Amino acid sequence: MTSTSTFLDNIYSVDGGEGMRQYYDDWADSYDSDLRENDYRTPARCAAALAAHIGDLSAPILDFACGTGISGEALHVAGLTTIDGTDISQGMLDRARAKGVYRELWRGSPDAPLNAAGKGYAGIAAVGAIGAGAAPAENIDGAIDSLSPGGVFVVSLNDHTLEDPQFEERLTRAIADGRVDKLLAEDGPHLPAIGLGARVWAVRRR
Ligand SMILES: C[S@@+](CC[C@H](N)C(=O)[O-])C[C@H]1O[C@@H](n2cnc3c(N)ncnc32)[C@H](O)[C@@H]1O
Repeated sequence: MTSTSTFLDNIYSVDGGEGMRQYYDDWADSYDSDLRENDYRTPARCAAALAAHIGDLSAPILDFACGTGISGEALHVAGLTTIDGTDISQGMLDRARAKGVYRELWRGSPDAPLNAAGKGYAGIAAVGAIGAGAAPAENIDGAIDSLSPGGVFVVSLNDHTLEDPQFEERLTRAIADGRVDKLLAEDGPHLPAIGLGARVWAVRRR
């Protein structure tokens, strides 16, 4: 099993809040090489799902919990051209800015769920961004409520996250309530070098 990174080995037990922000600030320097060494597949999977369902590739989208911008680069490669990003870690955001694929980047709070209503997003991607070792479950509803009508939300839930039903329940409840329509729920590789998979969901806001 690859993973020579203590950051990667320990992240799934880090709790939210200020400790999470500090953890990613400390990881920012080595995050890209750690993830690439472990064959991080989820960004390309999520980007392909968003590009397939959004319709207009130039419409504004948000890369929620964008980290160092690996996810933004994948969205850019998939053809999306107007990409904003947000994250709680300034260290991660500084590296994301250096990737040169974002229109706007801003720092969020670990204590408040995403609220970007009124910004006109036609798509929101949460790539490795919600679940164990990342942002809490209420950001699923925050992302759905932040979309323009007809907008597409793509989110990956890794194997650790799927063990806790509260994350997927947020999606199934939004479908049952008629707030979104389901487009996709597909299992596949997340970090195959450490044997981890992820389910990629896509839903469209009504
Ligand atoms: C595993 S990284 C994923 C980063 C990027 N999307 C990628 O695919 O490489 C998780 C990111 O979530 C961010 N994060 C954690 N809690 C958050 C929260 N409550 N709101 C926004 N971002 C958060 C972390 O700072 C970190 O950059």
